[in-house]
Order: sequence, then C-alpha cells, then structure tokens
Amino acid sequence: MTGFCNKLTPAPGVDLHSGALDTTAQRRLLDDIREITGQAPLYNPTMPRTGKPWTVRMTSCGPQGWVSDRSGYRYQPNHPETGNPWPAIPQMLLDLWDETTGYPAPPECCLVNFYADNARMGLHRDEDEEALDAPVLSISLGDTATFRLGGLERKGKTQSFKLHSGDVLLIGGDNRLAYHGIDRVFPNTSTLLKDGGRINLTLRRVTKP
Ligand code: SIN
Ligand code: FE2
Repeated sequence: MTGFCNKLTPAPGVDLHSGALDTTAQRRLLDDIREITGQAPLYNPTMPRTGKPWTVRMTSCGPQGWVSDRSGYRYQPNHPETGNPWPAIPQMLLDLWDETTGYPAPPECCLVNFYADNARMGLHRDEDEEALDAPVLSISLGDTATFRLGGLERKGKTQSFKLHSGDVLLIGGDNRLAYHGIDRVFPNTSTLLKDGGRINLTLRRVTKP
C-alpha cells in the first residue's frame, strides 16, 4: 500500500485501511481499469426474477466474472454481452491482494462497479463464492460514498462509514458474510474521475484452492 494509512476495525474481521492508495497509485489503477473496460465494457446488469436494472453498471476481470440477470447471480468466464473471456486482473491488484489478505491463492474475480451520482447498492451478502475463508477485498476510487455494514442477519443492526478514493476495505473472518451496501455517493467529492462518479473494485477468491 502506498498512501498514509490509518487502519480501523469497524467489526471483527472487517478492516478499513483509509488512504491506503496514494494519488499516483489511484491513477495507475484507473489506467488499468480503462484498459479493462475497453475490452470488457461496463454494462447494465438486471436483478434476479424481476429483471429490473441495477443503478450500478458493472464489468469484471479475472477468470470468473460476477454477473446478475433475471436467472440469478453467478460467476461465469465470459462477458454477458460480448461473450469474450474477461481480461486478466492487473498485477497491481494481485500484489495488493497478497499484501493485504495473505491468502495462499490469488483472487479469481475482480468485479468493477461504476456508480453515477444517483447509484446505490442495497444491503446484500457476498455469498456466491466457495472459498468463504478468503476475505473480500474492496477498493474505492473517485467520489466518496456511504458504506453500510450490518451483521450476519438481514434485520440486524447496521453502522455506516464513508469510503473515500484510495480506501481499501477487507471483509472477512467472522463477518465474511455480513450484510453490506452503498447508501449514496456524494457528487464532486473527488477529482480522480474526470466525469465524476465512483468506482469500486471487489476482489474475491471464488473456488477453493
Ligand atoms: C459491493 O458490495 O459489491 C460493492 C461495495 C462498494 O461499492 O463499496
Ligand atoms: Fe458486496
């Protein structure tokens, strides 16, 4: 990690490294993301059953991309619109995974979420992976957002905190299956993305190594 970093632990197994990536690292990562979206364009996923569109646009890199459509949530090796295999996960992210998780195998999916000003993500759990012993590693770029963290029960208590550009959040341990979501994004809080908005990258180990 390249920035001045302050570690907070909002819940057991959940570590927030705020300011983990400095501006140079954020820009390098953004260049990598532009390459990825050039090969695997952001698309508008739809919700299981209802087919309602998400407000977040998505793409993935890595051997397994996470997709959502009318038939459900799943991992698959190809982009749902182009049919092409997902691009590789950038080396910088593989290194960050090793450094922060210490997990003995690389991530298989990096989900790329793009939030325009009005986008949000409802409370959910990341539970489509077999390797639940690996944490989820999340990186925020661009505008600040309010992250909501609950517990293991949907109806449980929640807390919220802000995620800023360059923050790295690990969700693992006893809270690997905690509910979480994004309440809102605050426009014009970062100059990293020239047209505004927020990018979140979520790295996950999908299969058991
Ligand atoms: C997610 O849970 O997939 C995204 C969380 C975030 O955007 O920070
Ligand atoms: Fe999630």
